[in-house]
Amino acid sequence: MRKKVIAGNWKMNKVMTEAEDFVREAGQQLPAGNNIDAIVCAPFPFLPELVKLAQNTRLKIAAQTMHYEENGAFTGEVSPLMLKNIGVSHVVIGHSERRQYYNETDDTVNKKAHAAFKHSLTPIVCVGETLEEREANDTKAVVETQVQKALAHLTHEQIAQTIIAYEPIWAIGTGKTASSADANEVCTHIRQVIAALTDSSTAEQVIIQYGGSVKPANIDELLAQSDIDGALVGGASLEVDSFLKLVEAGAK
Ligand code: 13P
Repeated sequence: MRKKVIAGNWKMNKVMTEAEDFVREAGQQLPAGNNIDAIVCAPFPFLPELVKLAQNTRLKIAAQTMHYEENGAFTGEVSPLMLKNIGVSHVVIGHSERRQYYNETDDTVNKKAHAAFKHSLTPIVCVGETLEEREANDTKAVVETQVQKALAHLTHEQIAQTIIAYEPIWAIGTGKTASSADANEVCTHIRQVIAALTDSSTAEQVIIQYGGSVKPANIDELLAQSDIDGALVGGASLEVDSFLKLVEAGAK
């Protein structure tokens, strides 16, 4: 059985002391058990300290993006080598906000996925359709292309370890959640796309998260679906209590 993975994406929020307090508190209170992973995706300046604070707890620390090169003349960027070197375990790749505001494309997402594995970082690859695409009935086609391009030329073993986050763009930060049945339909499709790229046993191992206005009140229903293995959560991950409730829902 696949484990559940709950990841809090803080985006551009908090200052250092708030980040430290969160990780101290959440790290102590996380539910035990190997069927759940809890991850905090924090801004770059906090990462080294948060990794230290999370040591000896079950909390894992992720970056929200990275460059695909190890080093070079890329002013302002952070490399996979740097992230690995400070003990980060996961990295979010291709978040819709990166695609929308920072020129992230299916091609750079693929390069970053390869770079992540080269440095033993687990990629959390985000895919999802816009409202216009959903209304035009293009959701599955859009997501299918994003998944195929993101995973191109990865080995089956690497694909099995990749986390996919299905985040319909119209549901992010809007309070609108996809119905659990609609979210599951797309997650099932993603698993079928992965099975076609690899094989069914590889596809069965892939963790597929849903993201978009997930909160303690709706997570149980989402996690009860056949192909939703966790959540990538923005707003509701900023407070420790709410984050812990989400993780506890995953640990049930
Ligand atoms: P919200 O949970 O705030 O809708 O954000 C979702 C998201 O973008 C997580 O990456």
